Amino acid sequence: MAPISALIGSTEDSARQILDAIESQFQLSDDALVRITDQFLKDFRLGLSEYNHPMAMIPTFVTGVPNGSETGLVFHSSYAWAHFSFQVSCHFLEKHKSSRRLHCFYHVLCFTGLKDLPRPRSRWNKPVRSRILTTECATYFTLFSRVCEVQLKGNHQFTLRQQKYRVSEALKTGEATALFDYLADSVDAFLTEFPSSPNSAPPDPFATGSSALDLLDTSDSSPAVPLGLTFSFPVEQTALNRGKVLTWTKGFSAKNAIGHDVVQLLQDAFDRKHLHVRCVALVNDTVGALLSRAYTAGGCILGSIFGTGTNGAYVEKVENITKLGDSPARKHGGDMVVNTEWGAFNNTRTTLPTTPYDNKLDRESINPRLQAFEKFISGMYLGEITRNIILSLIDAAPYPILFNGRASALLNKHYGLDTAVMSEIEQAWENGRDQPSSNDKLVNGSHAISNASAAHPHPSLSTPTRHFTEVDKLSPEDRSRLERIRNIVIQRFALDAADVTLRDAAIVHWTSCLVANRAAKLSGCAIAAVLVQTEKAKLGGGFVPKDEKITIGVDGSLIEHYPNFNARLRASVRTLVGEEVEARLNIGLAKDGSGVGAALCALQATKQGL
Ligand code: BGC
Repeated sequence: MAPISALIGSTEDSARQILDAIESQFQLSDDALVRITDQFLKDFRLGLSEYNHPMAMIPTFVTGVPNGSETGLVFHSSYAWAHFSFQVSCHFLEKHKSSRRLHCFYHVLCFTGLKDLPRPRSRWNKPVRSRILTTECATYFTLFSRVCEVQLKGNHQFTLRQQKYRVSEALKTGEATALFDYLADSVDAFLTEFPSSPNSAPPDPFATGSSALDLLDTSDSSPAVPLGLTFSFPVEQTALNRGKVLTWTKGFSAKNAIGHDVVQLLQDAFDRKHLHVRCVALVNDTVGALLSRAYTAGGCILGSIFGTGTNGAYVEKVENITKLGDSPARKHGGDMVVNTEWGAFNNTRTTLPTTPYDNKLDRESINPRLQAFEKFISGMYLGEITRNIILSLIDAAPYPILFNGRASALLNKHYGLDTAVMSEIEQAWENGRDQPSSNDKLVNGSHAISNASAAHPHPSLSTPTRHFTEVDKLSPEDRSRLERIRNIVIQRFALDAADVTLRDAAIVHWTSCLVANRAAKLSGCAIAAVLVQTEKAKLGGGFVPKDEKITIGVDGSLIEHYPNFNARLRASVRTLVGEEVEARLNIGLAKDGSGVGAALCALQATKQGL
């Protein structure tokens, strides 16, 4: 990127001009937000009517959402990179291989934020429990496999036990067969570590409707275990248990997967290992979030992920999915969950105001020109955009603006700045504030994200902190907050303390706010578009919804942990669809949504006899 130049004035003047110019590039006016949301809606409609559009609007063949009365002991298995890259949910009605007894179990195998984990062990070895670290730094860049056992209690509640296994970087980019073998190994390892107990199976595991057990062939000759797969990448589904990989995202590029049926890839791995497991359902993590939130809240219209990647799945009228043509699914009518794959919005590069920092990120990514929206807003990329801005300020001409013009090896490294560090910096600022924003707190138990003060957010939520270069004029409290940020900067950027001033700390904080605020506002556009599409709101506001509560399930590191992300997102939704609608939004964490949702989906699949 060309160094930024300011040709006139004093050091201070030139710095101010440069910072002002950057700030204006990241601002999104209310009008811009409306235009973006309007384009979202157009893209939704295009994707619903034709195949092969970036906004893929994938019919999932999931035709209902649970109401929370479902019961059963469920194991689910999934894999995710950071917060769920892809997941495999299995429900095991019987331990694989030779066992003839029928046990009602589901398993989950995921990749998520763990470090120092053991590789999956052979079923013949005694496994060792892994140490789970919960630091933010571990949540973005470590690849995991996770296996869980989920028990649906039938009263909107569930219990879950899980094990996570580390996955090497090499698996992300190697042969797909190696990756899927690893997934199969992880399921196998979990089953070895947590063998299913015959006594843990409830007598009637699926109290509503017909029992899934009835649909399984329990004869000695067919002991296969039904399994649901949560795969958090774009997949063109053709049935509940069929779908071709369209593309990799989030830094994956495993060979010989694109164009192949992902269920078959996993099934082949199970078969190679002689595991009697049969994939019966395929879901995206957003669908998992939707189903799981519906289960815990008694209904839900949208499941969305704001984590390493971003995406949303919502309940659509089948009659609107015109690309299904005269298919039986379309003739059947009713509702169907649609996986929007909104991370690909603006792949045409016609809508979002793009900065040089975004262009650099895109050019250097492994998927240039793809996942354009995701690159503006997801946890995988925000740190990199911030790093690009910081580097440009170190290199600014005629005078460096940051760190005496010095970078560190870490700052020079591609993806060297973790989004979690931005989160830490913003948290350090928030911690000193008199009244923390209550609309960004998670409410435990119900897993709801409170909207108590959503209508009156703290001023800093909608306007990011200015790049106050006059640090001397700050209050002692603010200076001590900046001191904390300075310490984080020195430590996390691996810089010499002599090169980091309080003013530098203020500018780094301002940079983080700019990037995160834009991300949260754009996330609000995606949510507002779904609200309008599902007739819960009108773009521009002035619409009073019938529903007292409009339930949305969310998951991902940004929405869960990034200070004020939820509040900024809500402020954007309010701008787009008005206070009445925003106040009724019940945005709740679909914690473990991938596990619970995929298990619920596998349940639906077995009910359909898949
Ligand atoms: C994938 C989606 C996924 C999202 C969140 C995106 O990169 O394309 O399928 O739902 O990440 O994990």
